[in-house]
Amino acid sequence: MEKLKGKLMPILLSVVLIGGVVIVINNNMSGKAQFSVNVSVPELTPVASEGRDLFNSNCIACHGKNASGSDNGPPLIYSFYKPAHHADGAFVNAALKGVRAHHWKFGNMPPVEGMTTQKVLKIVRYVRELQRANGIM
Ligand code: HEC
Repeated sequence: MEKLKGKLMPILLSVVLIGGVVIVINNNMSGKAQFSVNVSVPELTPVASEGRDLFNSNCIACHGKNASGSDNGPPLIYSFYKPAHHADGAFVNAALKGVRAHHWKFGNMPPVEGMTTQKVLKIVRYVRELQRANGIM
């Protein structure tokens, strides 16, 4: 019996340890939505640079630096948002009308105040140049 205990204890301990690790990982995944990617920034065309400035004052709080994602919103340099999935019009709609949460767990995106189609299309140029430079096309 004592011998058996000696063999069981390490096994029980490992089960407890592995269980703990699994719980920690699960918490990270199901807790507050959070997802970001590494984005390398190419040399931008003038229009895309204007778009970057507009992005930085209107979108960065949720979509993160270089649209790489943050605690409040998803990365836009991401396969979901390549042109074939989210055409330029989807960006205009998102900024002017908002987005109901559907792909992620960040909640809804509210309409962004002060946006116009023209401004959003500049932001799109910025996002597309980043996407292309990061292999998302
Ligand atoms: C208050 C936070 C917030 C701000 C500010 C914000 N977004 Fe979003 N955006 C989100 C969230 C959250 C989603 C993801 C919704 C989902 O699919 O679950 C999203 C989704 C999107 C999408 C995908 C739309 C779709 O059809 O799935 C686009 C495009 C987008 N945002 C562009 C922008 C642009 C451009 C700006 C700045 C003008 C901006 N966002 C500002 C939070 C934000």
